[in-house]
Amino acid sequence: MPSLTSLVLHLILLSNFALALQASSLEGYTPKPLSYYVPKDAPRKLMNIIDSCWRSNSNWPKNRKALADCAVGFGKAATGGKYGSIYVVTNPKDDPVDPKPGTLRYGVIQSQPLWIIFARDMVITLKNELIVNSYKTIDGRGAKVEIAYGPCITIQGVTNVIIHGISIHDCKPDKGGMVRSSPTHVGKRQGCDGDAISIFASSNIWIDHCFLARAADGLIDVIHASTAVTISNNYLSQHDKVMLLGHSDSYSADKVMKVTVVFNRFGQGLIERMPRVRFGYAHVVNNRYDEWKMYAIGGSANPTIFSEGNYFIAPDDQDSKEVTKREAKNWENWTWQSSRDVFMNGAYFVRSGYGSCAPRYTKSQSFTAAPGFLVPALTSEAGPLRCRVGKAC
Ligand SMILES: *[C@@H]1O[C@H](CO)[C@@H](O)[C@H](O)[C@H]1NC(C)=O
Repeated sequence: MPSLTSLVLHLILLSNFALALQASSLEGYTPKPLSYYVPKDAPRKLMNIIDSCWRSNSNWPKNRKALADCAVGFGKAATGGKYGSIYVVTNPKDDPVDPKPGTLRYGVIQSQPLWIIFARDMVITLKNELIVNSYKTIDGRGAKVEIAYGPCITIQGVTNVIIHGISIHDCKPDKGGMVRSSPTHVGKRQGCDGDAISIFASSNIWIDHCFLARAADGLIDVIHASTAVTISNNYLSQHDKVMLLGHSDSYSADKVMKVTVVFNRFGQGLIERMPRVRFGYAHVVNNRYDEWKMYAIGGSANPTIFSEGNYFIAPDDQDSKEVTKREAKNWENWTWQSSRDVFMNGAYFVRSGYGSCAPRYTKSQSFTAAPGFLVPALTSEAGPLRCRVGKAC
């Protein structure tokens, strides 16, 4: 009898191995070749369960909303703009108070659901944070879309947002001022820290296939009792504080937080927080980690972390081989478990606590983690994909 794992693996290989695609553009930095870490006989490209849900349809431009059914994990129910019309961004300009039709901001502030796409390649430099309203999808497929060199994205007090296939980089703080958050509301903002994506008091959020790098503060923050979030297929690089899940050691309302971090590539030049968790629950599964500087997974305030089937490549620095970091004393009873992770170059995970750490997904959220050795293949197309009309993506 073949084991269940090898059976599943065979099925994945048979159904998806034929796919060959060009690498996505990665903003002018050169990672070490995959062959540096991965055995010669390992598969190079595989479609993971999220991608295989939609990518093979060559008619994707006519079926864009099919994407909304493809998330796994805690953000599975995020509908984005699935029940709305298509809105096309034609103009990269920005006016934070009185956005013009055709701009990204005009689309994201609307009250009704919208599936937002882009007419052509564009770099959008925002003049203040982009405050996204509920039931929006920002879908960069078919264009090279960058939000860069200004303030970036705020998802605050809303639900059902999907962000897919854009680059968000070189984000800057801003000093505050008036910003429109809906057709009927303009509010005075205190200023933002310069996160690439800040998720604040929000739920049912899915961030997929984005490139995230070089922000003034975090790349992705999930704070103030946000929950039901999936962060998948992203390529993150060149940054210090990568991903913060949980606001502060005194903000215990973050106990409700449940986040799935899956199929991401934590690329070169990252230092810490992949993620750093407080109070809530994080399922960190099938991600690839390339040489962090300080640590990969950390936290404080008794978070629960399940690290499953990740591919950890430790840095050469002998003092930074540990995957984990507890930012407090008396952590013996925090439940941090590792299952089927692959540890390269001396990486090791310090476990703690006892009892099951399984994510307790609902049936629709649940998925089977792949064996860790497949992760380089499953994450080989993390970041924005180059999707062309008439071709599978
Ligand atoms: C951990 O749990 C055990 C058993 O409940 C308890 O005796 C111990 O004090 C706890 N340790 C900490 C640091 O909370």
